[in-house]
Amino acid sequence: MESQEEKIEKFARMAVPTVVAVGLGGAGCNVITWIKDKGITGGKLVAVNTDATHLRITKADKRILIGEKLTRGLGSGGYPDVGEKALYESANEVVYELSKSNIIFMVAGMGGGTGTGSIVGLADVLRKKFAGNPMAPLICGVVTLPFEVETARMAAAKKGLSRLKAACDTVVVIDNNRLVKVAGNLPFREALGVANTTVGKFVKGITETITTASLINLDYADLKAIMSGSGIASIGIGEGSGENRIENAVDKALNGRLLDIEDVTKAQGLLIHVSGGEDLTLGEVNRAAEIMKRSLPPKVKIIWGARVDNELQGAVSVMAVVTGVESAFLSKNQKHIGPFKFR
Ligand code: GTP
Repeated sequence: MESQEEKIEKFARMAVPTVVAVGLGGAGCNVITWIKDKGITGGKLVAVNTDATHLRITKADKRILIGEKLTRGLGSGGYPDVGEKALYESANEVVYELSKSNIIFMVAGMGGGTGTGSIVGLADVLRKKFAGNPMAPLICGVVTLPFEVETARMAAAKKGLSRLKAACDTVVVIDNNRLVKVAGNLPFREALGVANTTVGKFVKGITETITTASLINLDYADLKAIMSGSGIASIGIGEGSGENRIENAVDKALNGRLLDIEDVTKAQGLLIHVSGGEDLTLGEVNRAAEIMKRSLPPKVKIIWGARVDNELQGAVSVMAVVTGVESAFLSKNQKHIGPFKFR
């Protein structure tokens, strides 16, 4: 039987969830640096790479060079199998940093060697470690898909994403190509910056709303309910200011979805996250939820959280996360992906 001490420990952990975000490979580490620069309350930041030079300029609470015997700190050269082996070589060190958390966000850009290989390897290690454990953390991948010009990386990204989907509770997928379009056809370098900001905002927003007192707190149990075993998730972010700011932000978040999804009517859950300056009202938060509810089938479970963000003066930001969807990228035949068509 469970002792009182064990019971107290269990419920205390449930009450204030601990969150860790781990960035893997170059893109993952860049996102972690973005979050570290902005500052995060209630979450630990871990950076993992095979590339020592890049790790040296990465900002995190903990940095881990993986696979030093295999790659000598020189990177994975674009080979996901090298990235995966590197993770296994250093798995104990990485898992040690994560295993006491309630939510684990694993962040990577799919398509390269280290990110693709090590995120899949880490997801597998964690899945085995927590198999059958009712206190298992929520394991959430947050990844970007390669730009269309990166044709050689598409196959690796697709293979990696299918394996990741099988090992995680949820994988939030952001297609870099949609992001570029939504952001207004930016040059490559700037587009990477927007990608980092988007992924960073997602991780920071959820972490802070769940771990610190907010206008409307996100409940860990509710988050688990819509994210456990739910496959792929798509996010959209919209900002609005002036008159009808909340309506405009919701519209942008719903229509600027950052992943091509197959059928939104099959969605399992919707997470709505609203942030705004000191003037954000509960009425606006409710309105955002009401508008979004109308665009999804009634069976979809909806949860929401809201926070005051002092950087957003006079403006509001709405993030919509739709879970349990299918990604067109995974179901599309490989030969249709990218600018070259072989028919
Ligand atoms: P190796 O260099 O082979 O060890 O792999 P890696 O996983 O470290 O590669 P990296 O993360 O640099 O790139 C993987 C993919 O992520 C690229 O193909 C791009 O699509 C994307 N990417 C690269 N840099 C960034 C970045 O700074 N931010 C974001 N969001 N995506 C990036």
